[in-house]
Amino acid sequence: MTRLRMAVIGVGHLGQHHARILAGLPDVELVGVADANPAQAREVAARHETTAFDHFEPLLGRVDAVSVVTPTIFHHQVAAAFLKHGVPVLVEKPICRTVAEATDLIELAEKAGVPIQVGHIERFNPAFEELARRPIRPKFIEAERHGPFTGRSVDIGAVLDLMIHDLDLLLALVGGRVRTVSAVGAAVFGGHEDMVNARLEFETGCVAHVTASRISPRPKRRLRVWAPEGYAGIDFVSRKLSLVQPGEEVRRYGLRVDKMDAAARGRLKDEVFGRHLQVLHLDGDRKGDQLTAELRHFVDCVRSGRRPRVTGEDGRDALELAERILSSVREHQWEGHPDGPVGAGEFPRPSGWLFQPPARSEAA
Ligand SMILES: NC(=O)c1ccc[n+]([C@@H]2O[C@H](COP(=O)([O-])OP(=O)(O)OC[C@H]3O[C@@H](n4cnc5c(N)ncnc54)[C@H](O)[C@@H]3O)[C@@H](O)[C@H]2O)c1
Repeated sequence: MTRLRMAVIGVGHLGQHHARILAGLPDVELVGVADANPAQAREVAARHETTAFDHFEPLLGRVDAVSVVTPTIFHHQVAAAFLKHGVPVLVEKPICRTVAEATDLIELAEKAGVPIQVGHIERFNPAFEELARRPIRPKFIEAERHGPFTGRSVDIGAVLDLMIHDLDLLLALVGGRVRTVSAVGAAVFGGHEDMVNARLEFETGCVAHVTASRISPRPKRRLRVWAPEGYAGIDFVSRKLSLVQPGEEVRRYGLRVDKMDAAARGRLKDEVFGRHLQVLHLDGDRKGDQLTAELRHFVDCVRSGRRPRVTGEDGRDALELAERILSSVREHQWEGHPDGPVGAGEFPRPSGWLFQPPARSEAA
């Protein structure tokens, strides 16, 4: 089998891992890496014995597929150039900065007859894969994604940086359109929003509460789903899935507490989980990481012509929902009326101290 000639454009924090993994895939030849920072391109290229480029253009005629891992503001420019040359593209999330740009990429891919895949990596999390295989009709969802402030991805805010992962998962899990969006978000450090909460109501009747923060001391990424079929909880960090479902008796008759004697009622709290509600904990497959699974899948789609698990349309749908959330965030009135501060950027200034601030040392 001839090896697929691939390149990575943008080899910063994440792109260098794309390069490392692609360099190690037996059916891929990493023909080069490009980065606007020539020293970074040289360092990563040297690590993987490939060629460094300080611009993507020389790679246009030399590759069969490409991975675009530049900051979001450059996704459209770089991906469009390759698609115009008929080169399949894996573009990191969010697909682009605007829905119009995303639509343009989808049309270019269609015209060229090549796949475009978007890097919504949580779709490859084994815990989510396990859940997506099961017949669940979500009616209420809570999604939380918290991370420490890294100073990276400051060209976008917490919605496009973090929440977009959960928006894609919700759309994949619930299906159908989102009827109403109501959101609040605050730019704690100035610039874009650093924390956001959104309430979404789907046409299916499902309600979702989604929170993202990029100023939390500890990472936390979890999804909790309540459905007629039961409850599902995913911890994306440990890749664990917990499932709870009503047992046969509860499904038929409900829990008839009124028919229980005092002793049975006394045991209830120890017997609810296990006897009346059945519980299954699944540990995600710890072998193999999600990025490798995502890149292998892309390579497979390029070779076989199969439709990627996360298409350009999926990326655009998540972005469209993100834009609706951002527009709701922009309209939020912090004091309940339009004459006061409005939107993430006008988060009211502190009116006092919650506790005595520590004394500043001379050196600080
Ligand atoms: N899927 C995920 O979980 C995940 C995680 C982190 C980042 N991302 C996405 O990956 C992308 C990159 O994020 P990062 O954290 O690696 O950023 P980064 O700033 O660390 O790296 C980006 C690199 O791209 C280079 N670059 C900038 N413009 C370029 C251009 N026009 N051509 C070539 N190179 C260019 C920069 O010099 C830099 O080295 C972003 O879109 C981000 O949203 C996705």
